[in-house]
Amino acid sequence: MNIKLILKKHTSQALISLGIKNIKYIVINNTGQKKPWNYQIDGLIKIAKELNINSFNLANKVSSKIRIHNMYKKVLVSQPGFISIFLNMLWVEKKLEKKIKSARLDVNYVKKKNIIIDYSSPNVAKEMHVGHLRSTILGDATARIMEFLGHNVIRANHIGDWGMQFGMIIAYLKQYKANPETFKNYNEIYQKAKIKYDNDKLFSNKVKLYTKKLQSEDKSCMKIWKKIVNTTIKKNGKIYKNLNVTLTNKNIMGESFYRKMLFNIVNDLKEKKIAVEYHGSIIVFLNNFKNRDGNPMGVIIQKKDGGFLYSTIDLACLKYRCETLHADKIIYYTDIRQNKHFMQIIEIGKKAGYIPNYLKIEHHMFGMILSEDNHPFKTRSGNNIKLSSLLEKAIKKAKTIIATKKNTKISQKRLDFLAKRIGIGAIKYFDLSKNRTTNYVFNWNKILSFSGNTAPYMQYAYTRILSIFRKLNVSMINLQGKIQLKNKFENQLGIKLLEFEEIITDTANKGMPHILCLYLYQLSTLFSQFYEKCSILFSKNTEIRCSRLILAFLTARTLKKGLNIIGISTINYM
Ligand code: ARG
Repeated sequence: MNIKLILKKHTSQALISLGIKNIKYIVINNTGQKKPWNYQIDGLIKIAKELNINSFNLANKVSSKIRIHNMYKKVLVSQPGFISIFLNMLWVEKKLEKKIKSARLDVNYVKKKNIIIDYSSPNVAKEMHVGHLRSTILGDATARIMEFLGHNVIRANHIGDWGMQFGMIIAYLKQYKANPETFKNYNEIYQKAKIKYDNDKLFSNKVKLYTKKLQSEDKSCMKIWKKIVNTTIKKNGKIYKNLNVTLTNKNIMGESFYRKMLFNIVNDLKEKKIAVEYHGSIIVFLNNFKNRDGNPMGVIIQKKDGGFLYSTIDLACLKYRCETLHADKIIYYTDIRQNKHFMQIIEIGKKAGYIPNYLKIEHHMFGMILSEDNHPFKTRSGNNIKLSSLLEKAIKKAKTIIATKKNTKISQKRLDFLAKRIGIGAIKYFDLSKNRTTNYVFNWNKILSFSGNTAPYMQYAYTRILSIFRKLNVSMINLQGKIQLKNKFENQLGIKLLEFEEIITDTANKGMPHILCLYLYQLSTLFSQFYEKCSILFSKNTEIRCSRLILAFLTARTLKKGLNIIGISTINYM
C-alpha cells in the first residue's frame, strides 16, 4: 500500500473530473514530522498558471472532491493553492492490520519488467580492491529491491576479461618461461609486468603482440587466459559470498562474451555511415559531445592495428541486451568517471537503431571512497586496498568490539557469527547509507559505531524489539487483538510504518539505498520514543498492551525486511 500513489490517484481523478487533463505537475510530498499534517499536494499552482485560472479556487475544488474518501481526517487548503492532508487514524489502523497479515508487508507487486543491472564488473587478473565495493553493494541492493517489487532482474557481472592485462601477463610468462600452473597469484605478475611494460619498449611491443594474438583466439594464449580467468573468478566468488552479495558465476557476462560480435558492430556502424575511417582508425563522431577544440568528439571503435576497444565491447553488449535479452531497463553501476563513456555509447546505440524507444538506460554513478585526509582511500604506500583484507579487518574489529561490550561469556562460534554479521553489515550499510552521488570518508570508528545511522545500531535496535517479546515470554506469531492508535507516539509510529512501500519505490526508482536507510533509522528512532513513552511491559490494560505489542512486531518485521532487502543481515540477539 502506497499512500503517495493513492493520493496522486485521488488528485488526478479530481482534476480530470474538472476537465483538466494536464496532471503531470502533481507531486505528493510526505511532510514527516516537520508539519502538523502528514502529506501535501503540490503542483496545483503550476497547473492553474498554465490554464490561467485562480490557483486557490482550483485547490478548493480539488479538495472538496477528494475529502469524501475516508482515509482523510482533514483536507486543508492554503494560499496560493496548497492542499494539506491529515490522515484518518482509524483508516491507518485498518491498513496496519492488513500489513500484519501480509508476508510482504502489503507492498504491491509492480508491472514486471526485464531489468538488467550491470554491477561489480571488476577487471580480471587483478584482485578486487576497495574501488569495487560501491559498484558491488549498490548494484546488489538495487537488484534485490527490484526483485522484491516483482521485476525480472538480470544480474550482469561485466568482468574485464578481454583487455591488455592478459597481453602483459602472457608476455611476462613467456619471457620468463614460467609455467602458468605454478602462478596462482596473477595480481603480482600483472604488477611486475606493468612496470616492465611502462619502462621497456621491447616488452611493451610484445604485450601488444600477445594481446592481439589472444584477441584472434590463438590456442596457447587462450589456454593461459582461461586459467587466469578461472582463478580470478574463484577468488572473487569468495568475496561475494563473504559480502553476502547475490552474484554467482551464472551472472558473469564479461567482455569476452561479446568478442565474436565486435567485427560486425564495426561493419554495421560503417555501413550505416555512423562510423568513418580516420587516419587508419574507425571512429564515430558525435555532435552532442565536443572535444577540447569545440569540434565533434570522436569515439574510436577500432584501432589502427585492428584491435577493438572498451567502447566497441559496450556497444556490442548494449545491442545484445536489447535484441537478445529484451531489456526494458538497463542500469550501469560504475563510478562517476565513466559517465561520459556511457553517454557516448548510448548516443551511438541510438543512432544505430539498437535501442528501442521504450528502453530506459541509466548510469547510477557514484562518488569515491576517501581516507581521512580526503585523498582516495589507499594503503600507506599508495597501493589499492584489497577488498578481501578490508573485509577481514572489519570482522576482526567487530570481534574486538563485541568481546569488550559483552560482559557475559560468549562461545567462540557465536562470537565469529556475530562479528561477521556486524563487521560486514557495517561496511555495507555505511556505504549504502550515503547518497551515492557523493564521495565519503572511510572511518572505522563511525562505521562500527553502535549509535547513529549505522548497521550496528540498526541491528541492535532490531534485537531490542525482539527482547521485549522474550522478556514477556509471548510469541510474535500468535499475537491476537487490534491496533489502537491513541496518542502522538503511536500515531507517528503507525504512519511511519505505512510509508514503507513509498520508500521502497522511491529507493528503487532512483537506485539510492540511502533513502531506505534513512527511513529505517527514523523508524527505529520513532520506535524508541514510542517505547519510552508508551509502556508495554507495565501496561495493565490487555487491549492496549496487545496493540502496542503488535506495533512492536510490525516495526521489527519492517526493520528486518528493509535491512534484508539491501543485503544487510539481522541478528536475533546480541
Ligand atoms: N570493468 C570495468 C571497470 O573495472 C567496469 C565495467 C562496467 N560495465 C560496463 N558494461 N562497461 O572499470
